[in-house]
Amino acid sequence: MTAIQEAAATGRSVATADTILAVKDVVVEFPRPRQNVGFRAVNGVTFNLNRGETLGLVGESGSGKSMTALSLLGIVPAPGKIVEGSISLRGRRIDNLGLKEMRTIRGKDIGMVFQDPMTGLNPVRSVGAQLTESVMRHQNVTRAEAEEIAFRALDQVSIPSPRDRLKAFPHELSGGLRQRVMISLALINHPEVIIADEATTALDATIQAQILDLFRLRLTKATMIIITHDMGVAAEICDRIAVMYAGRIVETGTIAEVLSNPRHPYTVGLLAAVPRFDIRRPKLVPIPGVPPTAEDIIRGCAFKSRCKFAQAKCDERPPLTHLGGRLASCWFPRGA
Ligand SMILES: Nc1ncnc2c1ncn2[C@@H]1O[C@H](COP(=O)(O)OP(=O)(O)OP(=O)(O)O)[C@@H](O)[C@H]1O
Ligand SMILES: [Mg+2]
Repeated sequence: MTAIQEAAATGRSVATADTILAVKDVVVEFPRPRQNVGFRAVNGVTFNLNRGETLGLVGESGSGKSMTALSLLGIVPAPGKIVEGSISLRGRRIDNLGLKEMRTIRGKDIGMVFQDPMTGLNPVRSVGAQLTESVMRHQNVTRAEAEEIAFRALDQVSIPSPRDRLKAFPHELSGGLRQRVMISLALINHPEVIIADEATTALDATIQAQILDLFRLRLTKATMIIITHDMGVAAEICDRIAVMYAGRIVETGTIAEVLSNPRHPYTVGLLAAVPRFDIRRPKLVPIPGVPPTAEDIIRGCAFKSRCKFAQAKCDERPPLTHLGGRLASCWFPRGA
């Protein structure tokens, strides 16, 4: 079987010469106390990210979006770890690298905007010291040049009085400013891949629009993974989307395809929960029920307890298969 035939048969996207990141069957597991079956925060995630492409990762809280991102950088918090699968950057395995090699990749090849800015910032070093140090580690410049690059980076994310902010420590900044410092730190060495985890959630609407412009204009010519709760944001800046539920991708395809004709009942539910007219902010319609928790042992389709179309067949896990131009894992898909 050729790679393409295999992809068609197994419902997986094919890695091409333009593939920057290839994520294959990744499982991130946390041990469960007094049980020999761990909790799989990420449960067999596969996707390819091609050059210049923006992939949106969406899904309810706890679906494994952040864990997927952290696994790409080799920074899953202990005692969690990657127990299966592989991650390749331009064809080279990076899931089995040592700390030092991984540190080189972080920042230079892959820049990450963390959901919690305090995860990505050092609390005891000034903003300027962190930015300057990162530039000097990855670019061949003098300290004075690095400081100038740091200044411009803060200016670019609309931080007022950037010279003064360079002297500030992370805790001296508001949440919104800290988030923008994180963004500038992620972009400063022009990484080929940017992962932005809820990068704009803490920001007010005007700044959010500016940051999205920055991402959208691809000033850094980056390939991106955007993690967001906001389908509007995803629709605006992503080329492709992957919908996660209980650690798995349940539907993935181009934005146009998935948003205009969602096939998985969970995607249908998520889209129904999106306000159509932002200005009037009509009430969100939540999907009834709750997602499985870390204590639940899932058999078959993880969505079945909340799905009004579930049948006996759903006790068997639905594979991710081709459905009209996208992949979805459902025995009884919606739409057509
Ligand atoms: N340190 C940890 N130990 C054990 N389980 C964890 C830990 N961190 C996260 N989890 C669990 O892993 C699962 C996936 O979490 P993750 O943070 O990836 O979700 P998420 O999709 O990013 O959610 P959100 O939208 O709230 O950020 C959740 O069930 C969460 O409870
Ligand atoms: Mg998260």
